[in-house]
Amino acid sequence: MIQFNNVSKNYPEGNGLSEVNIKINDGEFVFLVGPSGAGKTTFIKLILRETLPDEGTIMFDDYEVNMLPNRLIPYYRRNIGIVFQDFKLLRRMTVYENVAFAMEAVHRKKKLIKRQVPHILNLVGISEKADHYPDELSGGEAQRVAIARAIVNNPKVLIADEPTGNLDPEKSWEIMNLLNQINLRGTTVVMVTHAKDIVDRMEKRVIQIEKGRVVRDDEAGLYIKKRRQNDSNLKKAVETDSFEQRVRERRYQQRLKSLKNNSFSAADDADQNNVDSGSLEVPSGNSIKHGDRKC
Ligand SMILES: Nc1ncnc2c1ncn2[C@@H]1O[C@H](COP(=O)(O)OP(=O)(O)O)[C@@H](O)[C@H]1O
Ligand SMILES: [Mg+2]
Repeated sequence: MIQFNNVSKNYPEGNGLSEVNIKINDGEFVFLVGPSGAGKTTFIKLILRETLPDEGTIMFDDYEVNMLPNRLIPYYRRNIGIVFQDFKLLRRMTVYENVAFAMEAVHRKKKLIKRQVPHILNLVGISEKADHYPDELSGGEAQRVAIARAIVNNPKVLIADEPTGNLDPEKSWEIMNLLNQINLRGTTVVMVTHAKDIVDRMEKRVIQIEKGRVVRDDEAGLYIKKRRQNDSNLKKAVETDSFEQRVRERRYQQRLKSLKNNSFSAADDADQNNVDSGSLEVPSGNSIKHGDRKC
C-alpha cells in the first residue's frame, strides 16, 4: 500500500531521511519509533505529500505520490486520516460539529453526515459528549474525538503522531485499544511514538529510524508471524461475537413477537434445543426460555 523506494530528503542543515526502503501493507499496524530529530515527521510529511523527496519514489497503492499534480493532492489526502499529540480540535465547535466538519469539508451529503457522525462517535465511545466543546473534555476524550474526526471519512490509512503523548498510562491504553479496534476493522495504522512500554506490549511491527536511516524493521521476523496469528484470532473472535449477537437479537425479537401474538413460533421451539442460558419473566407470569439477554 505505502512503499518508499530509496527515498532521501535533505534539509540545508542535514538529512531528514537517507535511502529509506519501506513497504507497509494493507491492514498493517506499524509503530514508527526513534529519537527526536530522527526523521519520523519527515516520513509522515512525505506520505502526506506535504513535502517532496530529493531522491527516490513514494508509492501509495498505484499512485506515485511525488508525481501527483497539485490539483489532485486534496483528493489523494482523503485516503489518509491523521491524529496529533495535541488533538487539534476546533475550539468553537462541539464534538459533533468537529467530526461533522471533516465530512462537510469533503462535500459529503447532509443525510450521510447525520447518519455517519453519531455512528462514529458511538464507535469511539464519546456519544454522550456530542454537544460538549473541546475545553470541556479530558485529554483521553479529546483524543477520541480527534480519532473520530480522522476516521469519519473512512480513510485507508490512519496516521497517529504521538497520539498518547499527552495522556496518562490508563488513558493511553484506552486509546491504544481503540486504534487496535480500528485496525481490526481494516484500516492500516501507522503510529509514531516514544512510548516503549506500548510498543513492547502491543507486539506490532516496529520500524525504527535513527539519523534519517531505518535501523530496525521487524517485518520479516518470526515475531510478526506470531503477531499475525494473534490478530487473525482476535479478528475471528470479533466476527464470531457479532454474528452470535445478531443471532441472539433475532431470537429475542422473535420471542417478543410471539409473546405479543400470545403464541410461540416454531423458531422458539427450535431454539430451546440450542440456547438455554436464562429466562425472561413476562407480565402474564409465564416464563420464556431465551438466549443470553445481556446482548
Ligand atoms: N522544514 C525543515 N527545515 C530544515 N530542517 C528540518 C525541517 N524539518 C525537519 N528538519 C530536520 O530534519 C531532521 C528530522 O526531523 P523530523 O523528521 O522532524 O524528526 P522527528 O520527527 O523524528 O523528531 C531534524 O534534524 C530536523 O531538524
Ligand atoms: Mg516529529
